[in-house]
Amino acid sequence: MTEHDAVARLRAAGCVFAEDEAGLLAEAAGGDPAEAERLLARRIGGEPLEHVLGWAAFAGLRIPVAPGVFVPRRRTALVARLAAALAPRDGLVVDLCGGTGAIAAAIAHARPDLRIVAADVDPAAVALAAALLGPLGASSLLSDLDEALGDLAGTVDVVASCPPYVPTAEIPLMPREARDHEPTRALDGGADGTALQRGVLAASSRLLRPGGWAVVETSEALVTLTAQAAGDEGLEATVERDEPLGATVVVARR
Ligand SMILES: C[S@@+](CC[C@H](N)C(=O)[O-])C[C@H]1O[C@@H](n2cnc3c(N)ncnc32)[C@H](O)[C@@H]1O
Repeated sequence: MTEHDAVARLRAAGCVFAEDEAGLLAEAAGGDPAEAERLLARRIGGEPLEHVLGWAAFAGLRIPVAPGVFVPRRRTALVARLAAALAPRDGLVVDLCGGTGAIAAAIAHARPDLRIVAADVDPAAVALAAALLGPLGASSLLSDLDEALGDLAGTVDVVASCPPYVPTAEIPLMPREARDHEPTRALDGGADGTALQRGVLAASSRLLRPGGWAVVETSEALVTLTAQAAGDEGLEATVERDEPLGATVVVARR
């Protein structure tokens, strides 16, 4: 199979960036034609490109992912950028709902002086995050929100988070790649989309030192509710956007 054939098959399967994908799949196959055919068949079968490649592009990094875990979205780089900018020298940052560790890894690359802890409820994501973050001097642990982080209460400088925030009724409207290949728990934000954001903001009010910051991804549709939820926790909220990335983030100070 030539790369030209791969492009044609990807295009026929509806892949919009067929040329780019064919190049990345060929790279992942490492010159092995049987492996190239296997990877192409998985992609044409509807698996997310990132699950097939084994990594997702994020903030200039390649974040390892695997089938069954959430694929970090490029827009979430805004959370990492803001958190890295807000943290004081040698500060403590917690990435709640951290998944495979994308936000924590981007912060660690930008700010090697920080102590960074990522936490998630999904054991598969936590294992991937641990392998990624260990060599960067950061850690990853299994925790339902801040349940396992009680010893950090009142000491954290920045909580960074991209929690699930899709309203339950909108999950069936998501692209098949997300619906069929990412865990519902990584997407489902409850009836109005803010259930996990509220959980993260409540955890932030427990974890943050006075003057510390919560940096929480949201959507344009939810941003007013997310900012109100921060206020409900006694946090003072502002909104940051990166239009080219399509990112909206609530930044809230304790
Ligand atoms: C939208 S994904 C984002 C993951 C990661 N922050 C990223 O940007 O790649 C949401 C993550 O929240 C996790 N999650 C859902 N409910 C949780 C809870 N109660 N406690 C901790 N993590 C949770 C999911 O397992 C998933 O990894």
